[in-house]
Amino acid sequence: MAADVIAMNKNSTDAVVHYYGDADEASRLRTGWFQLEQARTQELILRHLPPAPATIIDAGGGAGAYACWLAARGYQVHLIDPVPKHVEQAREASSLQAEHPLASAQVGDARHLPHGDSTADAVLLLGPLYHLVEREDRLACLKEAHRVLLPGGLVWGAGISRFASLFDSLSGGFFDDPVFAPILARDLEEGQHRNSTGNPLYFTDAFFHRPGELSRDFLAAGFQVEAVVAIEGPGWLARDFDRLWNDPLQRERMLAAVRKVEREPSVLGASSHIMAIGRK
Ligand SMILES: C[S@@+](CC[C@H](N)C(=O)[O-])C[C@H]1O[C@@H](n2cnc3c(N)ncnc32)[C@H](O)[C@@H]1O
Repeated sequence: MAADVIAMNKNSTDAVVHYYGDADEASRLRTGWFQLEQARTQELILRHLPPAPATIIDAGGGAGAYACWLAARGYQVHLIDPVPKHVEQAREASSLQAEHPLASAQVGDARHLPHGDSTADAVLLLGPLYHLVEREDRLACLKEAHRVLLPGGLVWGAGISRFASLFDSLSGGFFDDPVFAPILARDLEEGQHRNSTGNPLYFTDAFFHRPGELSRDFLAAGFQVEAVVAIEGPGWLARDFDRLWNDPLQRERMLAAVRKVEREPSVLGASSHIMAIGRK
């Protein structure tokens, strides 16, 4: 591999490790609209996943939220993440479910999976595809997923919408922050999100996809595209989200509404995250 490619790869992982040093990924999915992200991600995984036992590689598995949930359902789950803190947290969470632990949890990079060819039934890429800012690196992840999957195996890839920071800044009350204006302008123009402000509210360097770009990358890596769907749809923009989510009836209404529009092309980009599901 050329020296400049190695340097670029190292840099992108360094930025990720630095960002998550301060962010609390282990508790994120239990707060605010991230609960909708989790419920919908689980729903979209279960909709396509073969029954247990099957082998799943969660590349970018963070602190193990989905990996441990799937292991508890009887799957053999291998977690990879470049952030040592996340791998430690995943191992700790795994140790709390002694009857259904993770098959493995190790520091690694979705661009270079340590697994053999054609050894997995499913791969989750719920993070790497937006943290890697170069298309070449995102394709490397998808090609690795393709390599380790058995024929017919499935990959779930999450992207952040090109328009997420526009909606987020409007609903979150920082649209008028002059420091955020150039960040938003570049997001909308190029999908290249750069945060040099030091404010963690503005996330870290990332790539924001148009829905069509996500499926184009899946096709380029050799996958058939089974579906491209909104994860949260417009639900993440709900005023007073917690009140709705904590009311069982309103929660079901919200989930039903999001499901109803999950494939609507004119609404896809309003979701914070988009999920593509591909088959080898
Ligand atoms: C927002 S977290 C999501 C964690 C979990 N998958 C989820 O969906 O809740 C994004 C994760 O992607 C990981 N990540 C970033 N770049 C990666 C790469 N090149 N290979 C593997 N994981 C990566 C980060 O370390 C982080 O744990």
